[in-house]
Amino acid sequence: MPDSRRPRMVIGNWKMYKTHSEAERYLTDFIPHIKDSTVEIYLAMPYTLIDLGVRLTKGTSIAIGAQNMNDASEGAFTGEIAARMLVDAGASFVILGHSERRTLFHESDSMINRKVKKALQSNLRPVLCVGESLAEREAGKTHEILEQQLKNGLADVSIDHLSQAILAYEPVWAIGTGETATPQVAEEAHRFIRQLIESLWGVDLAQRQILLYGGSVRLANVPALMEQPDIDGLLVGGASLLPDSFAQIINAIHTLPIGKET
Ligand code: PGA
Repeated sequence: MPDSRRPRMVIGNWKMYKTHSEAERYLTDFIPHIKDSTVEIYLAMPYTLIDLGVRLTKGTSIAIGAQNMNDASEGAFTGEIAARMLVDAGASFVILGHSERRTLFHESDSMINRKVKKALQSNLRPVLCVGESLAEREAGKTHEILEQQLKNGLADVSIDHLSQAILAYEPVWAIGTGETATPQVAEEAHRFIRQLIESLWGVDLAQRQILLYGGSVRLANVPALMEQPDIDGLLVGGASLLPDSFAQIINAIHTLPIGKET
């Protein structure tokens, strides 16, 4: 069970799904289901839905955010979006370094690092995703990759700012494949990340750092994942697209016992 000093959190990543009317229907259905939840709920929406999402979730505990951004303040970057535009639309967080961005759009660790720093300067909470591919895992390189992505992604970020960042361990081989990491495999990676944070930035930050697991999360595997001491919450893609299945995941976590301080 995770440490009770850290909030339990679930982020839904809608990826490139939903129109205005679909989002409206979703939220009308979803909000009553989670109104008593003590779990922190974040929804990462397509840019076009952020303003609507913020309006429809007003007065609830749901935070609305984006799935990517550019690191420049503004400029001639056709098709890109700036942090200040996201803030202006009401976003409070942004997913950065998702494996789909790294792989399909060739985002490097240094580009992701610039985005993380820009988000923090702009009052947007970054959710930095890290994770190894299947080939890297099979080659025994999981720790090396995690260390590289974390150190480079968080380079030159002050301790005060670091405590604002959320980290998500998302093994690439588990994303959208239906193949969830076993709770033991996920916990091992999470423990490694927490120990790395402790060695780089101290025990205080390591104990407060929110670490999420992502990759084919389904209701059936939620309790076993959330029982692990270093998993504080979940980043959910496919299962966040239907209001019922996402609410069931959140409510399953809400009813689990809260851990003790370690
Ligand atoms: P999935 O996606 O739950 O559909 O595997 C997770 C993610 O990409 O964040």
